[in-house]
Amino acid sequence: MGMCTPEIPTALRRSFFARVVAWQRQHGRHDLPWQGTRDPYRVWLSEIMLQQTQVRTVLAYYGRFLQRFPTVHALADASLDEVLALWSGLGYYSRARHLHACAQAVVAQHGGRFPASAEALATLPGIGASTAAAIAAFCFGERRSILDGNVRRVLSRVLAEAGDPARADTQRALWSAAQALLPTDAAPHDMAAYTQGLMDLGATVCTRSRPRCDACPVAALCAGRASGDPTAWPRQTVRAARRTEAWCLPLYLRADGAWWLQRRPARGIWAGLWAPPVLSAIEGLTAWLRDQPGVQADWPVAFDHALTHRQLRLQPVVCRLPVSSDVLSAPQAPGVQPDQGAWCSPSEALALGLPAPIRVWLESLDSGSRTSSSR
Ligand code: ADE
Repeated sequence: MGMCTPEIPTALRRSFFARVVAWQRQHGRHDLPWQGTRDPYRVWLSEIMLQQTQVRTVLAYYGRFLQRFPTVHALADASLDEVLALWSGLGYYSRARHLHACAQAVVAQHGGRFPASAEALATLPGIGASTAAAIAAFCFGERRSILDGNVRRVLSRVLAEAGDPARADTQRALWSAAQALLPTDAAPHDMAAYTQGLMDLGATVCTRSRPRCDACPVAALCAGRASGDPTAWPRQTVRAARRTEAWCLPLYLRADGAWWLQRRPARGIWAGLWAPPVLSAIEGLTAWLRDQPGVQADWPVAFDHALTHRQLRLQPVVCRLPVSSDVLSAPQAPGVQPDQGAWCSPSEALALGLPAPIRVWLESLDSGSRTSSSR
């Protein structure tokens, strides 16, 4: 190994791997639906869903997704809209777009078979270094370490890594430590148990705020624990506070019950999903409503929606249009982009890829209109 390999105490280097493998076999998770298979398609799908999303949430989506798309060919042949609709609620929608692109690349470039090495997997859309390593370890027993957020926390503690986790040199040091902890003769079937063991340890024992060191197989070797306060690692990065933005969402409602929805731009918040037009200021809408006495506006209570870097305050406005008018007639309603949208019946709309908070709102509107009318 080169000079940049961090100092790893000999006891740790000798036994970390074996302890994690033995612990996983006895105490780790064994009954998750993506375990017990080496099919790269199934493993890949689970790993993408599990990025930034908890096991509990993924369980509700994974089976449904596989049922609709049992093979990489089925997924590659689907429309992006259908994929986004099935993904709706899992969040981080760029994952779904990459997932679809990756399936198409596997079919077009690899004859429908996922390549059998972490290095080749990492060239595909949406597969980063850690996901590539996880798939390669689970499916092919490759001797390659993962390093996702949970594992970064585990290794930062075990090594008492003092660097700022946001810095590239700290991340490089952790990658090289992670790889150095693998015995040179690690057996392929142990690689799968070890990889799952690292994930399980991070999720169930070495948790962020209340680690259960008494249940940890590497507690005796852990420098963070020896310090008396393992939660002091990883070192905290100072984050900017979430910026708040107010969005006004006019939902234009035609007399026949259809809603006007538009596809969001390909980049940014809710990219590629369908939603009512988004206005960053309310004034344009209130001025337009004053000039349109036939339009009846309801203002439901505003609600907050937290994204990674932003807090959205969403103000829905239901704008009921009079018979014989629609928003494409002049003067055009605020936010409407005729070439980006469509009139949708509620059932058509709810089958589209919608951002989760929009789906909740539209579902409540739909069930409210069905119970209040005598259809
Ligand atoms: N998080 C990421 N990958 C996982 C896996 N295979 N099992 C459980 N949690 C995970």
